[in-house]
Amino acid sequence: MPSTVLKIAAVPGDGIGKETVPEGIKVVDAAAERFGFKVEWTHFNDWTCENYAKTGTIVPGGIDEGIKILKAYDSIFLGAVGWPGVADHISLWDLLIPIRRAFGLFANVRPAQNLPGVRCPLANKKPGDIDLLIVRENVEGEYSQVGGRIYQGTEDDIAIQEAIFTRRGVDRIIRYAFELARSRPKKHLTSATKSNGIIHSMPFWDERFNAIKKEYPDVKTNQFHIDILCARLVTNPEWFDTIVASNLFGDILSDLAPAVAAGGIGVAPSSNINPKERLGLFEPVHGSAPDIYGKGIANPIGQISSGAMMLRHLGQTEAANAIDRAIAKVLADGIKTGDLGGKSSTSEVGDAVAQSVATV
Ligand code: NAI
Ligand code: MG
Repeated sequence: MPSTVLKIAAVPGDGIGKETVPEGIKVVDAAAERFGFKVEWTHFNDWTCENYAKTGTIVPGGIDEGIKILKAYDSIFLGAVGWPGVADHISLWDLLIPIRRAFGLFANVRPAQNLPGVRCPLANKKPGDIDLLIVRENVEGEYSQVGGRIYQGTEDDIAIQEAIFTRRGVDRIIRYAFELARSRPKKHLTSATKSNGIIHSMPFWDERFNAIKKEYPDVKTNQFHIDILCARLVTNPEWFDTIVASNLFGDILSDLAPAVAAGGIGVAPSSNINPKERLGLFEPVHGSAPDIYGKGIANPIGQISSGAMMLRHLGQTEAANAIDRAIAKVLADGIKTGDLGGKSSTSEVGDAVAQSVATV
Protein backbone atom coordinates (compact mmCIF):
# COMPACT_ATOMS: atom_id res chain seq x y z
CA MET A 1 0.00 0.00 0.00
CA PRO A 2 1.57 3.37 -0.97
CA SER A 3 2.09 5.63 2.03
CA THR A 4 0.51 8.67 0.37
CA VAL A 5 -3.21 8.45 -0.28
CA LEU A 6 -4.94 11.50 -1.73
CA LYS A 7 -8.66 11.72 -1.03
CA ILE A 8 -10.35 13.49 -3.93
CA ALA A 9 -14.01 14.41 -4.40
CA ALA A 10 -14.89 14.01 -8.09
CA VAL A 11 -17.85 16.12 -9.21
CA PRO A 12 -18.42 15.69 -12.96
CA GLY A 13 -21.50 17.95 -12.91
CA ASP A 14 -23.33 18.50 -16.17
CA GLY A 15 -22.85 17.97 -19.89
CA ILE A 16 -19.32 17.34 -21.08
CA GLY A 17 -18.11 17.36 -17.46
CA LYS A 18 -19.44 13.78 -17.41
CA GLU A 19 -17.19 12.97 -20.37
CA THR A 20 -14.03 14.85 -19.41
CA VAL A 21 -13.82 14.02 -15.67
CA PRO A 22 -13.37 10.26 -16.29
CA GLU A 23 -10.46 11.08 -18.63
CA GLY A 24 -8.90 13.31 -16.00
CA ILE A 25 -9.24 10.55 -13.40
CA LYS A 26 -7.70 8.01 -15.79
CA VAL A 27 -4.62 10.18 -16.28
CA VAL A 28 -4.21 11.14 -12.60
CA ASP A 29 -4.43 7.43 -11.71
CA ALA A 30 -1.78 6.58 -14.32
CA ALA A 31 0.52 9.24 -12.84
CA ALA A 32 -0.14 7.96 -9.30
CA GLU A 33 0.69 4.42 -10.38
CA ARG A 34 4.01 5.52 -11.85
CA PHE A 35 5.06 7.79 -8.99
CA GLY A 36 3.99 5.51 -6.14
CA PHE A 37 1.02 7.18 -4.52
CA LYS A 38 -2.66 6.40 -4.48
CA VAL A 39 -5.73 8.46 -5.22
CA GLU A 40 -8.94 7.50 -3.47
CA TRP A 41 -11.81 9.01 -5.50
CA THR A 42 -15.30 9.59 -4.14
CA HIS A 43 -17.77 10.19 -6.95
CA PHE A 44 -20.55 12.72 -6.52
CA ASN A 45 -22.29 11.97 -9.81
CA ASP A 46 -25.70 13.24 -8.75
CA TRP A 47 -24.61 16.84 -8.04
CA THR A 48 -26.20 18.06 -11.25
CA CYS A 49 -28.73 20.40 -12.79
CA GLU A 50 -30.87 17.31 -13.35
CA ASN A 51 -31.01 16.92 -9.60
CA TYR A 52 -31.90 20.62 -9.31
CA ALA A 53 -34.81 20.16 -11.71
CA LYS A 54 -36.13 17.27 -9.59
CA THR A 55 -35.47 18.53 -6.06
CA GLY A 56 -34.67 22.25 -6.16
CA THR A 57 -30.98 21.92 -5.24
CA ILE A 58 -27.93 20.70 -7.15
CA VAL A 59 -26.44 18.95 -4.12
CA PRO A 60 -28.91 16.54 -2.53
CA GLY A 61 -29.76 18.19 0.79
CA GLY A 62 -28.46 21.58 -0.34
CA ILE A 63 -25.11 23.27 -0.83
CA ASP A 64 -24.44 23.75 2.92
CA GLU A 65 -24.62 19.99 3.28
CA GLY A 66 -22.31 19.66 0.26
CA ILE A 67 -19.72 21.94 1.84
CA LYS A 68 -19.75 19.88 5.04
CA ILE A 69 -19.13 16.74 2.95
CA LEU A 70 -16.31 18.30 0.92
CA LYS A 71 -14.37 19.33 4.04
CA ALA A 72 -13.19 15.73 4.38
CA TYR A 73 -11.24 15.79 1.10
CA ASP A 74 -7.80 16.91 0.00
CA SER A 75 -9.25 18.45 -3.15
CA ILE A 76 -12.26 18.73 -5.41
CA PHE A 77 -12.03 17.73 -9.07
CA LEU A 78 -14.89 19.38 -10.93
CA GLY A 79 -16.16 19.08 -14.50
CA ALA A 80 -18.69 21.81 -15.23
CA VAL A 81 -22.01 22.99 -13.89
CA GLY A 82 -24.91 24.39 -15.91
CA TRP A 83 -27.58 23.01 -18.20
CA PRO A 84 -30.43 24.45 -20.26
CA GLY A 85 -33.60 24.50 -18.21
CA VAL A 86 -31.86 25.73 -15.07
CA ALA A 87 -30.91 29.43 -15.24
CA ASP A 88 -27.11 29.79 -15.34
CA HIS A 89 -27.03 32.16 -12.36
CA ILE A 90 -28.89 29.57 -10.31
CA SER A 91 -26.61 26.66 -11.15
CA LEU A 92 -23.43 28.66 -10.63
CA TRP A 93 -24.62 30.09 -7.31
CA ASP A 94 -25.92 26.72 -6.06
CA LEU A 95 -22.57 24.93 -6.37
CA LEU A 96 -19.38 26.50 -7.66
CA ILE A 97 -19.47 30.01 -6.21
CA PRO A 98 -20.45 28.89 -2.67
CA ILE A 99 -17.64 26.30 -2.72
CA ARG A 100 -15.09 28.92 -3.78
CA ARG A 101 -16.26 31.18 -0.97
CA ALA A 102 -16.74 28.61 1.80
CA PHE A 103 -13.18 27.36 1.39
CA GLY A 104 -11.67 30.81 0.79
CA LEU A 105 -10.34 29.81 -2.65
CA PHE A 106 -9.48 33.39 -3.52
CA ALA A 107 -7.06 32.72 -6.36
CA ASN A 108 -8.22 31.36 -9.70
CA VAL A 109 -5.06 30.62 -11.64
CA ARG A 110 -5.47 29.99 -15.35
CA PRO A 111 -2.46 29.35 -17.60
CA ALA A 112 -2.61 29.57 -21.42
CA GLN A 113 0.15 28.57 -23.81
CA ASN A 114 0.56 27.76 -27.45
CA LEU A 115 1.68 24.16 -27.39
CA PRO A 116 3.44 22.15 -30.10
CA GLY A 117 0.88 20.46 -32.35
CA VAL A 118 -1.85 23.02 -31.59
CA ARG A 119 -2.48 25.58 -34.28
CA CYS A 120 -2.36 29.10 -32.91
CA PRO A 121 -5.00 31.22 -34.68
CA LEU A 122 -2.54 34.13 -34.87
CA ALA A 123 -0.17 34.17 -37.84
CA ASN A 124 3.56 33.55 -37.35
CA LYS A 125 3.44 32.34 -33.77
CA LYS A 126 5.66 29.44 -32.79
CA PRO A 127 5.08 27.17 -29.79
CA GLY A 128 6.39 28.95 -26.72
CA ASP A 129 5.76 32.46 -28.06
CA ILE A 130 2.61 32.79 -25.95
CA ASP A 131 2.86 31.84 -22.29
CA LEU A 132 0.28 33.58 -20.14
CA LEU A 133 -0.85 33.18 -16.57
CA ILE A 134 -4.14 34.81 -15.69
CA VAL A 135 -4.56 35.32 -11.93
CA ARG A 136 -8.21 36.05 -11.25
CA GLU A 137 -9.67 37.26 -7.96
CA ASN A 138 -12.18 34.54 -7.16
CA VAL A 139 -14.35 35.37 -4.16
CA GLU A 140 -15.47 39.01 -4.36
CA GLY A 141 -15.48 41.81 -6.95
CA GLU A 142 -18.22 42.02 -9.51
CA TYR A 143 -19.64 38.57 -8.67
CA SER A 144 -21.60 39.55 -5.60
CA GLN A 145 -25.05 38.86 -4.28
CA VAL A 146 -25.36 42.43 -3.00
CA GLY A 147 -28.09 44.25 -4.86
CA GLY A 148 -31.61 43.52 -5.84
CA ARG A 149 -34.58 44.02 -8.08
CA ILE A 150 -37.65 46.10 -7.50
CA TYR A 151 -40.79 46.62 -9.57
CA GLN A 152 -39.84 43.40 -11.33
CA GLY A 153 -41.77 42.74 -14.52
CA THR A 154 -43.22 46.25 -14.69
CA GLU A 155 -42.16 49.24 -16.78
CA ASP A 156 -40.41 50.61 -13.66
CA ASP A 157 -38.21 47.49 -13.32
CA ILE A 158 -34.87 48.26 -11.61
CA ALA A 159 -31.79 46.05 -11.16
CA ILE A 160 -28.96 47.06 -8.82
CA GLN A 161 -25.76 45.01 -8.69
CA GLU A 162 -22.95 46.03 -6.34
CA ALA A 163 -19.29 45.10 -6.78
CA ILE A 164 -17.32 44.39 -3.60
CA PHE A 165 -13.63 45.29 -3.38
CA THR A 166 -12.05 44.90 0.06
CA ARG A 167 -8.49 45.85 0.93
CA ARG A 168 -7.93 42.35 2.30
CA GLY A 169 -9.27 40.73 -0.87
CA VAL A 170 -7.50 43.01 -3.33
CA ASP A 171 -4.17 42.91 -1.48
CA ARG A 172 -4.02 39.14 -1.20
CA ILE A 173 -4.72 38.47 -4.89
CA ILE A 174 -2.27 41.13 -6.05
CA ARG A 175 0.41 39.89 -3.66
CA TYR A 176 -0.10 36.28 -4.78
CA ALA A 177 0.11 37.37 -8.44
CA PHE A 178 3.43 39.10 -7.67
CA GLU A 179 4.71 35.89 -6.07
CA LEU A 180 3.72 33.88 -9.16
CA ALA A 181 5.19 36.47 -11.53
CA ARG A 182 8.44 36.42 -9.55
CA SER A 183 8.67 32.63 -9.97
CA ARG A 184 8.44 32.82 -13.77
CA PRO A 185 11.32 33.57 -16.16
CA LYS A 186 9.98 36.90 -17.44
CA LYS A 187 9.13 38.25 -13.95
CA HIS A 188 6.49 40.50 -15.43
CA LEU A 189 3.07 41.38 -14.02
CA THR A 190 0.30 43.31 -15.76
CA SER A 191 -2.66 44.70 -13.85
CA ALA A 192 -6.04 44.74 -15.62
CA THR A 193 -7.91 47.88 -14.64
CA LYS A 194 -10.69 50.17 -15.77
CA SER A 195 -10.11 53.15 -13.52
CA ASN A 196 -11.26 55.60 -16.18
CA GLY A 197 -14.86 54.36 -16.21
CA ILE A 198 -15.26 52.60 -12.86
CA ILE A 199 -14.29 55.42 -10.58
CA HIS A 200 -14.32 53.95 -7.07
CA SER A 201 -13.26 50.32 -7.08
CA MET A 202 -10.75 50.46 -9.93
CA PRO A 203 -8.73 53.49 -8.72
CA PHE A 204 -8.63 51.61 -5.38
CA TRP A 205 -7.36 48.49 -7.21
CA ASP A 206 -4.66 50.64 -8.93
CA GLU A 207 -3.66 52.22 -5.59
CA ARG A 208 -3.18 48.82 -3.98
CA PHE A 209 -1.29 47.50 -7.04
CA ASN A 210 1.09 50.47 -6.91
CA ALA A 211 1.59 50.14 -3.15
CA ILE A 212 2.28 46.39 -3.26
CA LYS A 213 4.63 46.55 -6.23
CA LYS A 214 7.16 48.35 -3.98
CA GLU A 215 7.59 45.01 -2.19
CA TYR A 216 8.62 43.36 -5.48
CA PRO A 217 11.31 45.55 -7.06
CA ASP A 218 12.55 42.57 -9.14
CA VAL A 219 9.17 42.21 -10.92
CA LYS A 220 8.51 44.48 -13.93
CA THR A 221 4.97 45.83 -14.03
CA ASN A 222 2.52 47.68 -16.20
CA GLN A 223 -1.20 48.23 -16.31
CA PHE A 224 -3.81 48.42 -19.04
CA HIS A 225 -7.47 49.26 -19.10
CA ILE A 226 -9.33 46.02 -19.76
CA ASP A 227 -10.59 47.07 -23.20
CA ILE A 228 -7.20 47.80 -24.73
CA LEU A 229 -5.73 44.87 -22.80
CA CYS A 230 -8.10 42.56 -24.70
CA ALA A 231 -7.03 44.12 -27.99
CA ARG A 232 -3.31 43.88 -27.13
CA LEU A 233 -3.68 40.29 -26.04
CA VAL A 234 -4.71 39.53 -29.62
CA THR A 235 -2.28 41.85 -31.46
CA ASN A 236 0.74 41.51 -29.12
CA PRO A 237 0.30 38.50 -26.81
CA GLU A 238 4.07 38.25 -26.29
CA TRP A 239 3.94 41.53 -24.37
CA PHE A 240 2.27 39.67 -21.51
CA ASP A 241 3.30 37.13 -18.91
CA THR A 242 1.33 37.13 -15.64
CA ILE A 243 -1.87 39.19 -15.54
CA VAL A 244 -3.79 39.97 -12.35
CA ALA A 245 -7.45 40.86 -12.67
CA SER A 246 -10.68 41.22 -10.76
CA ASN A 247 -13.26 38.43 -10.81
CA LEU A 248 -15.11 39.58 -13.95
CA PHE A 249 -12.11 40.81 -15.92
CA GLY A 250 -10.19 37.65 -15.04
CA ASP A 251 -13.10 35.48 -16.13
CA ILE A 252 -13.15 37.18 -19.53
CA LEU A 253 -9.36 37.21 -19.98
CA SER A 254 -9.13 33.53 -19.14
CA ASP A 255 -11.41 32.56 -22.05
CA LEU A 256 -9.62 35.01 -24.35
CA ALA A 257 -6.09 33.89 -23.46
CA PRO A 258 -6.44 30.19 -24.45
CA ALA A 259 -8.46 31.17 -27.52
CA VAL A 260 -5.55 33.37 -28.64
CA ALA A 261 -2.87 30.85 -27.67
CA ALA A 262 -4.50 27.57 -28.66
CA GLY A 263 -7.56 28.37 -30.74
CA GLY A 264 -10.11 27.53 -28.07
CA ILE A 265 -10.92 26.89 -24.46
CA GLY A 266 -10.91 23.08 -24.57
CA VAL A 267 -7.27 22.90 -23.47
CA ALA A 268 -7.45 25.46 -20.65
CA PRO A 269 -7.12 24.31 -17.02
CA SER A 270 -7.64 26.19 -13.80
CA SER A 271 -7.00 25.96 -10.11
CA ASN A 272 -9.14 27.60 -7.46
CA ILE A 273 -6.94 27.80 -4.40
CA ASN A 274 -5.99 29.46 -1.20
CA PRO A 275 -2.20 29.11 -1.49
CA LYS A 276 -1.92 28.49 2.27
CA GLU A 277 -4.54 25.73 2.37
CA ARG A 278 -4.49 22.18 1.09
CA LEU A 279 -8.07 21.88 -0.15
CA GLY A 280 -8.53 23.43 -3.59
CA LEU A 281 -10.90 23.03 -6.50
CA PHE A 282 -9.55 22.12 -9.91
CA GLU A 283 -11.65 22.42 -13.06
CA PRO A 284 -11.29 23.23 -16.74
CA VAL A 285 -12.08 26.79 -17.80
CA HIS A 286 -14.87 25.63 -20.11
CA GLY A 287 -18.47 24.95 -19.18
CA SER A 288 -20.82 22.02 -19.86
CA ALA A 289 -20.98 22.64 -23.65
CA PRO A 290 -24.54 21.39 -24.27
CA ASP A 291 -23.98 21.83 -28.02
CA ILE A 292 -21.49 18.95 -28.17
CA TYR A 293 -22.45 16.80 -25.16
CA GLY A 294 -23.03 13.10 -25.78
CA LYS A 295 -21.01 12.88 -28.99
CA GLY A 296 -17.70 11.87 -27.41
CA ILE A 297 -15.91 14.77 -29.07
CA ALA A 298 -15.23 17.08 -26.09
CA ASN A 299 -11.59 17.95 -25.64
CA PRO A 300 -10.45 16.42 -22.32
CA ILE A 301 -7.11 18.28 -22.18
CA GLY A 302 -8.41 21.17 -20.03
CA GLN A 303 -9.69 18.65 -17.49
CA ILE A 304 -6.54 16.50 -17.60
CA SER A 305 -4.35 19.55 -17.25
CA SER A 306 -6.46 20.64 -14.24
CA GLY A 307 -5.56 17.23 -12.76
CA ALA A 308 -1.87 18.15 -13.15
CA MET A 309 -2.50 21.47 -11.36
CA MET A 310 -4.23 19.56 -8.56
CA LEU A 311 -1.33 17.14 -8.10
CA ARG A 312 1.18 20.01 -8.11
CA HIS A 313 -0.83 21.79 -5.41
CA LEU A 314 -0.89 18.58 -3.35
CA GLY A 315 2.90 18.24 -3.56
CA GLN A 316 3.08 15.59 -6.31
CA THR A 317 5.27 17.74 -8.54
CA GLU A 318 6.90 14.94 -10.53
CA ALA A 319 3.53 13.42 -11.37
CA ALA A 320 2.18 16.82 -12.41
CA ASN A 321 5.19 17.47 -14.64
CA ALA A 322 4.80 14.04 -16.26
CA ILE A 323 1.16 14.82 -17.09
CA ASP A 324 2.20 18.13 -18.67
CA ARG A 325 4.87 16.34 -20.74
CA ALA A 326 2.38 13.64 -21.77
CA ILE A 327 -0.15 16.26 -22.91
CA ALA A 328 2.51 18.02 -24.98
CA LYS A 329 3.62 14.73 -26.55
CA VAL A 330 0.10 13.55 -27.42
CA LEU A 331 -0.80 16.88 -29.01
CA ALA A 332 2.50 17.01 -30.90
CA ASP A 333 1.74 13.47 -32.17
CA GLY A 334 -1.53 14.81 -33.60
CA ILE A 335 -3.87 12.92 -31.25
CA LYS A 336 -6.44 15.69 -30.88
CA THR A 337 -10.18 16.28 -30.76
CA GLY A 338 -12.09 18.09 -33.49
CA ASP A 339 -11.92 21.53 -31.86
CA LEU A 340 -8.14 21.40 -32.43
CA GLY A 341 -8.52 20.10 -35.97
CA GLY A 342 -8.00 16.44 -35.04
CA LYS A 343 -10.16 13.34 -35.42
CA SER A 344 -9.72 11.60 -32.06
CA SER A 345 -12.52 11.07 -29.56
CA THR A 346 -12.53 12.28 -25.95
CA SER A 347 -11.54 8.86 -24.63
CA GLU A 348 -8.90 8.25 -27.31
CA VAL A 349 -7.13 11.43 -26.23
CA GLY A 350 -7.50 10.44 -22.55
CA ASP A 351 -6.13 6.94 -23.23
CA ALA A 352 -3.18 8.33 -25.18
CA VAL A 353 -2.25 10.77 -22.39
CA ALA A 354 -2.64 8.06 -19.73
CA GLN A 355 -0.39 5.68 -21.68
CA SER A 356 2.17 8.37 -22.29
CA VAL A 357 2.25 9.39 -18.61
CA ALA A 358 3.61 5.94 -17.78
CA THR A 359 6.84 6.57 -19.69
CA VAL A 360 7.30 10.18 -20.76
P1 NAI B 1 -18.98 26.45 -22.69
O1 NAI B 1 -17.57 26.59 -22.24
O2 NAI B 1 -19.74 25.32 -22.15
O3 NAI B 1 -18.98 26.35 -24.30
C1 NAI B 1 -18.58 27.40 -25.15
C2 NAI B 1 -18.21 26.84 -26.54
O4 NAI B 1 -16.95 26.15 -26.44
C3 NAI B 1 -19.22 25.82 -27.06
O5 NAI B 1 -19.35 25.94 -28.45
C4 NAI B 1 -18.58 24.48 -26.72
O6 NAI B 1 -18.93 23.42 -27.58
C5 NAI B 1 -17.09 24.79 -26.82
N1 NAI B 1 -16.33 23.97 -25.87
C6 NAI B 1 -16.30 24.15 -24.51
N2 NAI B 1 -15.55 23.20 -23.95
C7 NAI B 1 -15.10 22.42 -24.94
C8 NAI B 1 -14.27 21.25 -24.97
N3 NAI B 1 -13.76 20.71 -23.85
N4 NAI B 1 -14.03 20.67 -26.17
C9 NAI B 1 -14.52 21.20 -27.30
N5 NAI B 1 -15.30 22.30 -27.34
C10 NAI B 1 -15.59 22.90 -26.17
O7 NAI B 1 -19.70 27.85 -22.35
P2 NAI B 1 -21.24 28.29 -22.52
O8 NAI B 1 -21.79 27.70 -23.78
O9 NAI B 1 -21.25 29.74 -22.31
O10 NAI B 1 -21.99 27.66 -21.27
C11 NAI B 1 -22.64 26.39 -21.27
C12 NAI B 1 -23.05 26.07 -19.84
O11 NAI B 1 -21.88 25.89 -19.02
C13 NAI B 1 -23.86 27.17 -19.18
O12 NAI B 1 -24.84 26.55 -18.39
C14 NAI B 1 -22.86 27.90 -18.32
O13 NAI B 1 -23.40 28.55 -17.20
C15 NAI B 1 -21.95 26.76 -17.90
N6 NAI B 1 -20.59 27.17 -17.53
C16 NAI B 1 -20.05 26.59 -16.44
C17 NAI B 1 -18.76 26.87 -16.07
C18 NAI B 1 -18.19 26.16 -14.90
O14 NAI B 1 -18.73 25.18 -14.43
N7 NAI B 1 -17.08 26.59 -14.37
C19 NAI B 1 -17.94 27.81 -16.84
C20 NAI B 1 -18.59 28.34 -18.01
C21 NAI B 1 -19.88 28.02 -18.34
MG1 MG C 1 -15.68 31.65 -17.42
